[in-house]
Amino acid sequence: MSWFKGPLLAIETSCDETSAAILEGRTIRSNIVSSQVELHKRWGGVVPEAAARAHLEAILPVIEEALDAAGVPLRSVEAIAVTNRPGLVGALSVGVTAAKAFSLAMSRPFIGVHHLEGHLLSPLADHDVPFPHLSLVASGGHTEVVVVEGFGRYTLVAQTVDDAAGEAFDKCARLLGLGYPGGAAIQQASDGGNPRRYALPRSMPDDPSRFSFSGLKTAVLRLTEIEGDRIDTGDAAASVQEAIVDSLVAKTIQNADRLNLQAVTMVGGVAANSRLRERMARECERAGFKFFVPSPLLCTDNAGMIGLAGSWRLAQGMRSDFELDCEPNAALP
Ligand code: KG4
Ligand code: ZN
Repeated sequence: MSWFKGPLLAIETSCDETSAAILEGRTIRSNIVSSQVELHKRWGGVVPEAAARAHLEAILPVIEEALDAAGVPLRSVEAIAVTNRPGLVGALSVGVTAAKAFSLAMSRPFIGVHHLEGHLLSPLADHDVPFPHLSLVASGGHTEVVVVEGFGRYTLVAQTVDDAAGEAFDKCARLLGLGYPGGAAIQQASDGGNPRRYALPRSMPDDPSRFSFSGLKTAVLRLTEIEGDRIDTGDAAASVQEAIVDSLVAKTIQNADRLNLQAVTMVGGVAANSRLRERMARECERAGFKFFVPSPLLCTDNAGMIGLAGSWRLAQGMRSDFELDCEPNAALP
């Protein structure tokens, strides 16, 4: 396994976090994340134009902070990795333009990275994960189960037919009046709540290749209409969390079993959920699979994971050129 020795500057601006990291090999020396949560809260979701403008304001200070925290001067940076797909085009273009500008000004190579490859490789920052392994990617935009055969070799084995798991957390949180972003709010409100109080649907229990979360959202809407003011928000939050966790855990285990894989990872913003971490660890242990999950900071969007994917690609001799585009949708590389 080879990594780009570095120092490497990594940049991530695909959605609502402006992030920069410095890596040496697979070691993440610094990983600064400036979140736009406060900005988007008033609209209850990410507004693309506002996100792009906020990235533009934050990008240089965040890069400076990453360099300072790592104790690496800009002139020592030997290459740049940047998310160029998929994501909000206006947001992505802030990071990509910064990467191109540094590359041109300092005569250093740069590489465009697929955001999901960053998530998939994030467990490698802290663990020697064996290949092949199965990975659950659960974020605001994606819910997928992927066989990671090796670096750059990914096979999709399950995906959602409607909402992503993070989207389900966010929409149900809104229905329960828990605010934005919903995942962390539901986790917090669930504390001490009874997850069996309200019966909510599990997603397509008999089909290991598909997730569906739109039925859950409808069921929660109906629950709030029926219960009105009598609803116990803590119990409702715990019931929602349990429904999402049950579906994610069941399909991951089903697929690992079916494909005879011995190791499982879990990545993306939803993987920061403490109940999901606890349940997935327990079920993997019971089924005899090794289980790896990154620290919560490496689960939600961050440039450290983009640096890992970029580092591996640069070490293989891959480079992007100034024609590199930002792509709103892109299949896994
Ligand atoms: O990976 P991420 O930061 O951005 C995307 O690439 O989408 O994931 C964001 C998603 C949001 O939907 C958010 O509600 C969810 O991750 N999330 C959580 C938690 N923290 C973030 N969901 C459940 N529990 C959490 N603690
Ligand atoms: Zn993400």
